[in-house]
Amino acid sequence: MLAESFRAHFPVFRDSVHLCSCSEGALSDRVMVAMSEFMTSWRIHGAPWDAWMEEVDRARQEFANVIHANADDVAVISCASEGAFQVVSEQPFSSTRCDIVTTDLEFPSIAHVWLAAEPRGAKVHFVRHQEGMVTLDQYLQQIGETTQLVSVPLVSYANGLRFPVKAIASYAHRYGARVVVDAYQGVGVLPVDVNELDCDYLISGVLKYLLGAPGIAFLWVRPGLTPRNNPSLTGWFGRRNPFAFTPQVLDFADGARRYQTGTPAIPAAFAATAAMSLINELDAATVFRHVERLTTQLQNELLNRGYRLFSPLDASQRGPQIAVWAEDSEHLANFLKDRHIFVSPRGHVVRVSFHFYNDDSDVVNVIDGLEDYRRLYPSRISG
Ligand SMILES: Cc1ncc(COP(=O)(O)O)c(C=O)c1O
Repeated sequence: MLAESFRAHFPVFRDSVHLCSCSEGALSDRVMVAMSEFMTSWRIHGAPWDAWMEEVDRARQEFANVIHANADDVAVISCASEGAFQVVSEQPFSSTRCDIVTTDLEFPSIAHVWLAAEPRGAKVHFVRHQEGMVTLDQYLQQIGETTQLVSVPLVSYANGLRFPVKAIASYAHRYGARVVVDAYQGVGVLPVDVNELDCDYLISGVLKYLLGAPGIAFLWVRPGLTPRNNPSLTGWFGRRNPFAFTPQVLDFADGARRYQTGTPAIPAAFAATAAMSLINELDAATVFRHVERLTTQLQNELLNRGYRLFSPLDASQRGPQIAVWAEDSEHLANFLKDRHIFVSPRGHVVRVSFHFYNDDSDVVNVIDGLEDYRRLYPSRISG
């Protein structure tokens, strides 16, 4: 599908500039139809659980297709934090193997789940960024005989830095550590093949670059990975047969379904299936080239005009966003929102993020908006 045809699926572009996919992807016509199909099925059939379960399995399959995995290796969960919890709950922490290595560019709720494991004997180490950058060496220096879990974001939410996941994972495996990747800020725009990443677990929700709605996320677990403990969070969807209804029997399902808990978010599953069906019609390499061209264009324009950026300048380390320094990022984002330009403020940056639906006109519009803001509030934005 061409980028123009893809853009036509997203009504927001009729009157607005959507550049906040790092926060929430744009709503497509396909997702709108799918969500109304959910309501229709409820209205007409009362309790169509079989059809709804099929929809959940379709969402699982679409996600598996996005990351080149088998659907049996994918658990349907409610949010990324739940995935992190399930991962850490099966790690045995002992006095000789207790370390969790992560980074301060990790999304907070993932890092918080690691920190919450400290009372169980875990010790969390943060690889600290310098000016938004983390090097491979910094990560490797933290990994050793006592490492139980290495956590690497595919792309940082904070500034779009891409991490060398494969190199970190291969090194961690030499020490017998397990590797978990939060792919939320990349999957949907970066080509992702779990087999190539060499990680043990991969987590993502769907509401950013996978263009779905809140309420559903996925945990991929490497096939054949021996569980070291049962997950401590469970529910009937974690059973071999959820519909056996035997409260006395706690039989964990084979494959990734063992990490599932209670009733999946059915409306979100409808949205996720529709959204990822669109993504799966695209060629991932073409999508990334398109996004890279737009981020490069925006970066060059902003650097030429003297803006200060927090995102990596080198294209090989840059994800789908450009992070622009602002004294009051909420103020700037609201200023742009009044002009129907949607960006995402976080701390001292405004994140301008791209998908296959964005085009050159969006770059021009956001630059015009930033320049207007700078004319009005010169001291509040770099340059
Ligand atoms: C990298 C990353 N991980 C996780 C999350 C969210 O985690 P959860 O699904 O637990 O809310 C976000 C953003 O909301 C994110 O950017």
